[in-house]
Amino acid sequence: MRSYERSIAMWEETKRYLAGGVSSNVRYASAPVPLFFTRGEGARLYDVDGNVHIDYVLGNGPAILGHAPPAILKAVAESLADGQVYAAQHGRELELARTLTRLIPGAELVRFATSGTEAVQMALRIARAFTGRGKIVKFEGHYHGWTDQTYISVRPPLNEAGPASDPVAVPESPGMAPTALEDILVLGWNDLAAVEALFDRHGPEIAGVIMEPVMVNGGAIAPVPGYLEGVQRLCTAHGALFICDEVITGFRLALGGAQGRFGLKPDLSVFAKAVAGGFPLAVVAGRRDVLEILLTRNVMHGGTYNGNVQSMAAAIAALEILTRDNGAIYREMEANGTKLMQGLAALGRNHRLPLLVQGFPTIFQTFFTTAGAPRNYRDSAACDRDMALAFSRALQDEGVRTNQRTSWFLSAAHDEAVIEETLAAADRAMARLRS
Ligand SMILES: Cc1ncc(COP(=O)(O)O)c(C=O)c1O
Repeated sequence: MRSYERSIAMWEETKRYLAGGVSSNVRYASAPVPLFFTRGEGARLYDVDGNVHIDYVLGNGPAILGHAPPAILKAVAESLADGQVYAAQHGRELELARTLTRLIPGAELVRFATSGTEAVQMALRIARAFTGRGKIVKFEGHYHGWTDQTYISVRPPLNEAGPASDPVAVPESPGMAPTALEDILVLGWNDLAAVEALFDRHGPEIAGVIMEPVMVNGGAIAPVPGYLEGVQRLCTAHGALFICDEVITGFRLALGGAQGRFGLKPDLSVFAKAVAGGFPLAVVAGRRDVLEILLTRNVMHGGTYNGNVQSMAAAIAALEILTRDNGAIYREMEANGTKLMQGLAALGRNHRLPLLVQGFPTIFQTFFTTAGAPRNYRDSAACDRDMALAFSRALQDEGVRTNQRTSWFLSAAHDEAVIEETLAAADRAMARLRS
């Protein structure tokens, strides 16, 4: 059994100074306490107790090229000589904006922000300003950041969430403005008829429909064929905007994100995480006539650190690698990720566990269920969460780090040897689950 004694001691000490001991509540889920790390390199993280972790959390997605990728670090180090933040425009910003409009199918224009949460806030404000309407449609299980207007029905307890056909909007945190609920309409995902019925009832009030195009936060669930296109068609027919939250899927599912993979051009989309390989950057991308209202109608979007020199430099360097040889790195990640998914599924069968491996090679989730593949939040909530938690703990003790739901983010540093090592560890972890 691994020791986490130093992490436990540092956690106790940190709580004396840092509220709650962490800088993001998501980190409470780590066991036995939020762990303390000293460094990361490639596919691995090193903790203060000397434990080495093959890391499939990757900062919750951003580290698509692994930890401390030399090319990004070099570009950022070189950019430091030019300063850090100007509160003004510069050449790296122009270069990155130009590159992104080339790479993202729906991007006629882009605007930079610092975190996914605030970029979503920008997208929703633009949608309301553009349409002159107030209501936003979101889906159960989809996470769009922690603001009052979006931290709703992300993981609602089913006894509070109402019927699947007409879900209740459930605030996810104490302290949220009760009025935020008035402007959100919540639906179950992957059900086109439900979206159509909602538009029939509320069409003239709906400014936009926001969704994760692959429901990563609820279980790496793919859209059913025709769903994304169908929702976009309904949005267009009713004068609302179709907004894809590609904070996770962007530059992970494919070079052009989910919209590239599924052949879409959303009216607006939000990118963050992988786009800058682990440095803070978010992007709102979309139609020229929609994003232009930031200028023509002075729709307010601000942020001291937006477009800062190091984030621009990091993203330019990351995209240079990700686009090389027509996206060769994605083909490699797909091959390695497929091997990992298939290997885990085979181990599950060998150990006679009800293990389901669902998703895409660069982002997938392992579930324990006999009920078939989940298609929405309620299906995934019905899977055995205690077993998933036990699996993630057993994996950690065998040197493999996933989150508590056992989502798996892959990076380009997870090569064949790392995958083999992971599968051997997963074999031991599954044996423990059975004992
Ligand atoms: C789909 C999605 N949207 C938005 C966010 C919020 O991004 P950030 O944590 O950068 O504020 C996240 C974060 O995990 C996310 O997964």
